[in-house]
Amino acid sequence: MKALILVGGVGSRLRPITHTSAKQLVPVANRTVLSYVLDSIKEAGISEVGIVVGATAAEIQASVGDGAEFGLDVTYIQQDAPRGLADAVLVSRDFLGDDDFVMYLGDNYVVDGIVDFVADFRRDKPAAQVMLARVADPRRFGVAELDENGRVTAVVEKPQDPRSDLAIVGVYAFSSAVHEAVAGIRPSWRNELEITDALQWLADHGHEVGSTVIDRYWKDVASVTDVLEMNRHLLESLETRIDGEVDEASELVGRVVVEAGAKISGSRIVGPAVIGPDTVVQDSYLGPFTSIEGNCRVAHSEIQYSIVLRGASIEGVARVEDSVIGRETEVNAAPRTSTAHRLVLGDHSRVQVGG
Ligand code: DAU
Repeated sequence: MKALILVGGVGSRLRPITHTSAKQLVPVANRTVLSYVLDSIKEAGISEVGIVVGATAAEIQASVGDGAEFGLDVTYIQQDAPRGLADAVLVSRDFLGDDDFVMYLGDNYVVDGIVDFVADFRRDKPAAQVMLARVADPRRFGVAELDENGRVTAVVEKPQDPRSDLAIVGVYAFSSAVHEAVAGIRPSWRNELEITDALQWLADHGHEVGSTVIDRYWKDVASVTDVLEMNRHLLESLETRIDGEVDEASELVGRVVVEAGAKISGSRIVGPAVIGPDTVVQDSYLGPFTSIEGNCRVAHSEIQYSIVLRGASIEGVARVEDSVIGRETEVNAAPRTSTAHRLVLGDHSRVQVGG
């Protein structure tokens, strides 16, 4: 069995962070979203992985390389434009051959991975298997209808009027029957070859499309709120590890990771929180659910429930909350004006706020 990870497309809802970086490379708990995808593929016992790349190919390749770091053998497949998820299968035909494969959308995160899902597919041997989850508002997902045996009878992409609350999570498994399906469909109203249409094609042509309904946490990481929420979730299971320096005037409460080369002085850190390598935290308060990447500087500031990316500097800022601060960003105190700040800053931004 092989795996196909899709990381083409543009992360427009995560701008400005994604002006300079693919959304699948946004760090959450100081690891990229894509790393968690690669981990769960490895955990499912799959080692041959194709990554479908688009405009951000170079940085994806720089981040993942040949996959050896993840115990995987990675092949890159170029898609010339984001023509849809079924088009990604079409362009991967040579890589896939006639093997079964898992298709995993690179901006999805499913807690506890895909081992049970892959086991269902291997046991039942359907033409396709979809992972589903009940959601409050299905309108921004593909939505499935099932028969009494859990087989998919109908799938609709982002319906205005959903006929069930079962959303398609971005994890699928296919047999080689899918190749006939993706060749047999036409582009949708948004001019994409939809994988939902390929699934419908399979069901309509007498093929079995199975389902695994999960009730555990998953996230389609599309917005800043999603990223912060996934960060919160991942930090819940953090285990304390102090490899950097913490001076006597500092206090660490709860589960905190301080990576090698980081220096904490005169500060209070209430976990769960992770401080990246060579980051300096001085005379500051870091609150729960905060991830600070490497090479940052935080001084005389308060930050909680936030993500701070590599090389950012935050100095003299009374309270940063619910925020994602881009790479190499500088946030400094200005003369007193207001005390509450909610910031979503692009890479290389420079902002002055009230102290
Ligand atoms: O997240 C689950 C949803 O993902 C499903 O419920 C929908 O049925 C499915 O169509 C998909 O919807 P999205 O609108 O969220 O898909 P998006 O365009 O964000 O693309 C998902 C991933 O696939 C993302 O990592 C980019 C990549 N991609 C997308 C397109 C359109 C490609 O690699 N190539 C493409 O042509």
